[in-house]
Amino acid sequence: MLKKSKVSRKVKKSKRSAKVKRNLSWNKPILSRKLVLLVALAIIAGTAAYLQRPEDLGLKLPPPPADALYKQSGQPIESRVQDLLGRMTLEEKIGQMALVDKNSLKKIEDVSRYYLGGMLSGAGAKPDINTPQGWLDMVSEIKSQADNSRLRIPILYGIDANHGHSNVLGATIFPHAIGLGASRDADLVTAVAKATAAELTATGVNWNFSPSLDAPKDIRWGRVYEAFSDDPMLNGTLGAAFIEGMQAAMSGNPSIMAAAKHYLATGAMEWNQSNNKKFKIDQGRTSADEQALVSEYLPPYKAAVEVGVSSVMIGLNQWGEQRVIDSKYLLTDKLKTELGFKGFVVSDWYGVYEYAETSKYQANINTINAGLDMAMLPYDYKDFLIDVRKAVKSGKISRSRIDDAVSRILYQKFKAGLFDIDTENAGLENVGSVTHRQLARQAVASSVVLLKNENTLLPLSKNSGHILIAGSGADNVGRQSGAWTVEWQGVDGNWMPGGTSILQGIRQLAGNNRIEYDISGIFDGLTSKADVGIAIISERPYAEGWGDNANPTIEKADLEVIQRLKLSSNKVVVVILSGRPLLITDQITGWDAAVAAWLPGSEGGGVADVLFGNSKFSGKLPLPWPSVIQQLPINTNGITNNRTRPLFERGFGL
Ligand code: BGC
Repeated sequence: MLKKSKVSRKVKKSKRSAKVKRNLSWNKPILSRKLVLLVALAIIAGTAAYLQRPEDLGLKLPPPPADALYKQSGQPIESRVQDLLGRMTLEEKIGQMALVDKNSLKKIEDVSRYYLGGMLSGAGAKPDINTPQGWLDMVSEIKSQADNSRLRIPILYGIDANHGHSNVLGATIFPHAIGLGASRDADLVTAVAKATAAELTATGVNWNFSPSLDAPKDIRWGRVYEAFSDDPMLNGTLGAAFIEGMQAAMSGNPSIMAAAKHYLATGAMEWNQSNNKKFKIDQGRTSADEQALVSEYLPPYKAAVEVGVSSVMIGLNQWGEQRVIDSKYLLTDKLKTELGFKGFVVSDWYGVYEYAETSKYQANINTINAGLDMAMLPYDYKDFLIDVRKAVKSGKISRSRIDDAVSRILYQKFKAGLFDIDTENAGLENVGSVTHRQLARQAVASSVVLLKNENTLLPLSKNSGHILIAGSGADNVGRQSGAWTVEWQGVDGNWMPGGTSILQGIRQLAGNNRIEYDISGIFDGLTSKADVGIAIISERPYAEGWGDNANPTIEKADLEVIQRLKLSSNKVVVVILSGRPLLITDQITGWDAAVAAWLPGSEGGGVADVLFGNSKFSGKLPLPWPSVIQQLPINTNGITNNRTRPLFERGFGL
């Protein structure tokens, strides 16, 4: 489709130049030849002026007076926005609409030169030295650049802190959202969001691209774990609880903005309909089901809007045949008008241009007119500024649409306190603090779901005797944490400073038990059967389409581990570390106990807590656990595709 539209543009272009050629007949008298030259020169000069660098305008204006209304913290936000907007040039306004990746910034001075509204660290875009101090220094440098601009509009710095401030080495890594969904505990979710906000504040970051309000209907999708649940109500309740915690300012600091994503119906895409040839379902097509729109897809966003979410991020999926981001119906009519969303709409990474069947220029026009307020470009900011200005000057985007977009962004910046409060030095000691780690451990224990427990094998007694521990996830904080941890796709292995693996957690709690560990479960030299074997099996970390998987099951090496433990132990417990339910129907009958521990993060001690009875099992499945692949997708009422029962229903948990 993309190719087709390129071809038709070429055809149009060549037709136009043929026409020009016919008119430029060089056999006409000298006078008209000169006239043609003059006109041509005038056109070239005009175009050059038109396309002049955006920074050339605006800078010539004087800075506003020190007592300008917008600088007065006592004034109502609406008046401050109007005052500031009235002082801004078109270029300054368009700059506010640009969100640029840190690694794409050509020069640090460009922040003020192009009046950028926001910067981000795409996953893995870290400072040279990945420490909390390194982050604070990097973000502060960018913020002080924005402070050099004429109007000194504070800049947003956004990041994906979807399970703690997880790009930062040494931060507390909380369970991914699916685990929090299993806890069903809104207060816990708010507490986790507050702790994450404190860690973000410490490093100067003021915008979190979370929570995900996606609708994971198909476990083959590689982003299931980023959402709390496939149940729109639970998703909305926990999403709102997260936003409230995230946006509650720590005293003396601006608040962190949340971003509810990925609007709309991301997660409900159809298998084998991805726009991206590499992926199977991510970035694909969601059926334009009006009934589901009302009953399933909008409710979580309604909950987010009700608690005042600052921003909403648009997904890379299609709604029927149209990209969501091109849909005025979804962005403006539904989100802004019907739900009354007062914050600003931001695109996903390269979302304005990804799969657009038009030029980039036209994609900017279409998406801004649909209701987009800020574009996560994240690369070519100069092109964006030039194109949008050209579109405004030629009337393709109205000035009132630009004013609306910029007012929304400014409003949220004022509301968060960014104009009034100095953020620096807000407590680096919060990053990875003991208090946050304790909270994370408690969150882990609340998220674990007990799927099977023959003869009440669990919890294990501290005097169970001889326990064998094996499996790919037993001593691997990288797998426990999954993706979006220091690197986009996560980092496999036991590398995390301050993290506790499940094995370490068990060793700390095991009391009088004799614990032996071998990753592959071979245990050479055993003379008699152990009392219990615990297999901690895991998925490798994955993010986005890279996690799309036609058949999410237990890997062969882990299946062998379970087999070995069955031979060497009287009872076998299987702990599953995964970002989604795995297909275990054929295996689970042979296990004595089974536990879904999701992606618990840095505090493996929380899993040990429930295994050894320090905390009670309380987690309930946040989504149905399919028994066979043919059941997918499972609809919101838990009805499977072929009307057979899932292995475990949503809400199940012993
Ligand atoms: C993801 C978003 C994320 C953004 C910025 C995109 O690829 O889809 O969820 O917020 O990148 O890292």
